[in-house]
Amino acid sequence: MKVLVTYFSQTGNTEKIARAICEEAARANEAELKKLEDVSPGDAAMYDFILIGSPLHAGNLAGPVKDFLDSIQTSSGQKMAGFITHFGPAYPEQAMDGFTEPIKAACKKKGIEYKGCFDCQGALTESLHEMVKKKQNLNDEQWADMVKQMTGHPNEEDEGKAKAFVKELLA
Ligand SMILES: Cc1cc2nc3c(=O)[nH]c(=O)nc-3n(C[C@H](O)[C@H](O)[C@H](O)COP(=O)(O)O)c2cc1C
Repeated sequence: MKVLVTYFSQTGNTEKIARAICEEAARANEAELKKLEDVSPGDAAMYDFILIGSPLHAGNLAGPVKDFLDSIQTSSGQKMAGFITHFGPAYPEQAMDGFTEPIKAACKKKGIEYKGCFDCQGALTESLHEMVKKKQNLNDEQWADMVKQMTGHPNEEDEGKAKAFVKELLA
């Protein structure tokens, strides 16, 4: 099976998960890892399975990921799954359902089979700490707790979970 692992990543978290996913996918498939900016909408039609990764930006997939999903050209029998990193420790299923809606909608519109989404924590870049702390109205203690929780993610365990997700998908 020809697998494309493509991702948008500004600070490396989603890229880290993309690398783990591609490593696992490459065990039994022809898998390629590409930054989203290096994939043209037409390229996507050449793959049997597309895994698309995005950081969460203000409760949404990143803009370039949504644009890509809008413009993607497909071929018959394709499958797609997503992976998302976010600084929040864990989101309820209902929230995750909302975040993945653009992937599901693109699949439906373009006749691709949607196969699910992996998500894990990814530490927020320090330059945004003050802003997010204020926006979320957290005191020093609450913010320190939040930072403690997200620091180091995605970690080895997250990478392992991402690999398990893709192993099951491609089995
Ligand atoms: C502009 C912006 C908005 C963000 N909004 C959210 C958000 O709504 N919820 C969340 O959990 N994380 C949010 N984050 C955190 C990122 O999703 C998280 O740190 C992610 O792992 C970054 O991935 P990257 O390193 O691949 O860019 C935001 C980050 C940025 C830069």
